[in-house]
Amino acid sequence: MDAVATAPRTIRRDEYRPPAHTVRRATLTFDLRDEATTVAARLRIARNESGQGVLHLHAATDLEILSLRVDGVETAYERDEETIRVPADKDELLVETVTRLRPAQNTALEGLYRSSGVFCTQCEPEGFRKITPYIDRPDVMAPFTVRIEADRASCPVLLSNGNPIESGDLEDGRHFAVWDDPFPKSAYLFALVAGDLGWVEDHFTTMHGREVTLRIHADRRDLGKLDHAMESLKKSMKWDEDVYGRAYEHDVFNIVAVADFNMGAMENTGLNIFNTKYVLADKEISTDLDYQGVEGVIAHEYFHNWSGNRVTCRDWFQLSLKEGFTVYRDQCFSADQSGAAVQRISDVETLRRAQFPEDAGPTAHPIRPDSYIEINNFYTPTVYEKGAEVVRMLQALLGPEKFRKGTDLYFTRNDGNAVTCDDFVDALQDASGIDLTDFRRWYGQAGTPRLTARTSWDEAARQFEIELTQSTAPTPGQPNKEPLVIPVRTALFGTDGKLLALDAQGTLETVLTLDQPSARFVFENLPSRPIPSLLRGYSAPVRLELDLDAASLAFLAGHDNDPFNRWDAAQQLALRALQAHLTGRADDRALPALLVALRLTLSDPNVDRGLAAAMLELPDEATLALDVDQVAPDALAAAVDHLHETVSRELGDVLLDVYKSCDTNEPIAFDAASIGRRALRVASLQMLMVLPDEHRTALAETQARDAPTMTERMGALRALVDADAPAAAPVLDAFYTRHHGDALTIDKWFALQATARRPEALTRVRELLDHPDFTLGNPNRLRSLVGAYAASNFVGFHRADGEGYRLLADIVLDLDSRNPQVASRLLGPLKQWRRFAEPWREHMRAQLTRIAAKPDLSRDVYETVSKSLA
Ligand code: PHE
Ligand code: ZN
Repeated sequence: MDAVATAPRTIRRDEYRPPAHTVRRATLTFDLRDEATTVAARLRIARNESGQGVLHLHAATDLEILSLRVDGVETAYERDEETIRVPADKDELLVETVTRLRPAQNTALEGLYRSSGVFCTQCEPEGFRKITPYIDRPDVMAPFTVRIEADRASCPVLLSNGNPIESGDLEDGRHFAVWDDPFPKSAYLFALVAGDLGWVEDHFTTMHGREVTLRIHADRRDLGKLDHAMESLKKSMKWDEDVYGRAYEHDVFNIVAVADFNMGAMENTGLNIFNTKYVLADKEISTDLDYQGVEGVIAHEYFHNWSGNRVTCRDWFQLSLKEGFTVYRDQCFSADQSGAAVQRISDVETLRRAQFPEDAGPTAHPIRPDSYIEINNFYTPTVYEKGAEVVRMLQALLGPEKFRKGTDLYFTRNDGNAVTCDDFVDALQDASGIDLTDFRRWYGQAGTPRLTARTSWDEAARQFEIELTQSTAPTPGQPNKEPLVIPVRTALFGTDGKLLALDAQGTLETVLTLDQPSARFVFENLPSRPIPSLLRGYSAPVRLELDLDAASLAFLAGHDNDPFNRWDAAQQLALRALQAHLTGRADDRALPALLVALRLTLSDPNVDRGLAAAMLELPDEATLALDVDQVAPDALAAAVDHLHETVSRELGDVLLDVYKSCDTNEPIAFDAASIGRRALRVASLQMLMVLPDEHRTALAETQARDAPTMTERMGALRALVDADAPAAAPVLDAFYTRHHGDALTIDKWFALQATARRPEALTRVRELLDHPDFTLGNPNRLRSLVGAYAASNFVGFHRADGEGYRLLADIVLDLDSRNPQVASRLLGPLKQWRRFAEPWREHMRAQLTRIAAKPDLSRDVYETVSKSLA
């Protein structure tokens, strides 16, 4: 395990040094067996100029090294923590090691482990050192040849990166396969899979005429659920050719779905390994969100082939180089598949819900962090989602043509290399001729900037002025913040509700670039005072404070032709209404304005139904908490209840009409319009069920039992559970009986109950921890019960008696030595303790302190608790 006796060391970005040695070629032989596996490695190592007389290899603390030979001679070495030091006073050496692994006992799911009997690996970021001693850093890249030997009956399928070059039978019912990956790669992209798997096969012909064999492997029982993943893969390959000019260069592309996986998926070269959650889909069990999740993650991992694998990161501080860029790419791909408006809204919602709290909390860090204790803790919403927003801003500043020229230059210039975030910006700057010096501050500065807009109108001069001011609050280690370059996409609406021309050429939309603490922008010759629509499409990851009155926001929420801003205007009105309730202000104008805008949007069938559904999803307590100083969960919940009840009561008639109009009885389709209709059917039903009566409850029960899609059934069941309707329990039982044995669907059954919107959810969570289907060993199950409870059940988790926190801490303490990476992530909600009022604050702190006191805490959890308490 990653246990530590003393405080673990902090790794700093400015300590980066090029590697003293590099690996010229890696040849590995895996002898896979049930009890113990041996790995024989032959590493051709070369000394770089900076190299001394000692070779440093990484080896996990508990790695059992049976032998180590240098140029054929068994050699003594020193070992401490994660490094071994081998005397090596030559420019070239052959290092041969033999290690013994126990994959069946590997519960951390890093390195080589078993998932439902299948041998599989996870090496990013530092898992390869749990397999064999190596120079385990991304800037050491080598061609790999891998021989796998295993029992033929239990492991008919043997896979690694690159191309299969040899296979055959061995004695004792065993067989072997040899894989060769001639392109030098970092060790974190190594992968191996061996097991009894089925697969589906298809082909893709690249724009260069290369015929690529595509295979997706899974448990044989799941072979009927792979079509959507295969379609998504082919679409992704085509999209990357069309939009970025990037083609696939190997002959085979393999994907394997495994049930036990710490994250979503992994982009190992030519052999992606996926959490089953992001591969399997079928009409019976998958919601529209599940389908979109599969499509998006398949695309994400495929896109890494260029943004990550062929051009990789020099060191782990550069993680956003591949992740931010690849998330941006998959977001654009998804927008092209099923509707840009709803895609943008959901991407921004994710940013606000997950990244904003992080950026305002004790582990706030820039998208390119300056230091870490455990790199596994830095696969964060900041590195991923904020990183994607930074790339999106670069795209906006350069425009599509120059951005494409820039990415072309980035890929060709750096192909086959391990590079930095600066290299990425350099390529965009060199190709476009646009100076990006100041823009680079986004990479180094943490915290969400606050952007204030003050507007004024000069009637006599017919001038409209927008004054933009930015400021960023201090974050840990960064007391002083510099101004950032903030692109603010802007349009103005006239009193007739039409867009105003901003200049003589009739431009309707412009980008105001704020690169100072504050600046004024003046629009001339306007007919009357306009209503501004600022930050359209959410053009920068900031928190905008607008001096618009409720009537102007209601106008935007009912009419803005920028769908994101239309949605966001409704969110702003809802937040004002929630604030008014919290502070007891009776003269609130926001709530009536919101009702008007929602009524208009719902009842206009020409408005994208998906957008209407998104507008019905009002801000929750977690979002509201960002705007509140001393978070008192019960007060926030009361405000949200009041808002929901008002909407449910005042819009009951239109909600019911809309609900009925979305039941079209057409054959099930997965185009944007059908998905939007189902989303609105669910959202309207859920809003109706805030004030349940017999009729509404009957609708929900029928839908939960009989609706043709999982989206509708789950949505209705959610409404029954939240309303604590008598039908909830029998329908949940029926759901369980129907789907018993299907892990991903039983995950949904756990999550539905864990997120029941009431404090008593705790009791049910406790019961479910003892359910025979619950296990700490499967991350998906753990996330669906404990993760969902702590992160997505604000009312159920933040109990005034602190028992929700205690339950989470119990689980984290139990999990810490088994799977530190997942344990540390589960802790997330407790990081926010300083933002809460008493007694919640003290209860949260007490549990963090309790965890901190555990001896031999993993590096992962140590870093999270110590930073939270600092
Ligand atoms: N690199 C993976 C992705 O984003 C995420 C991952 C990180 C998976 C660490 C496993 C372990 O696509
Ligand atoms: Zn990724």
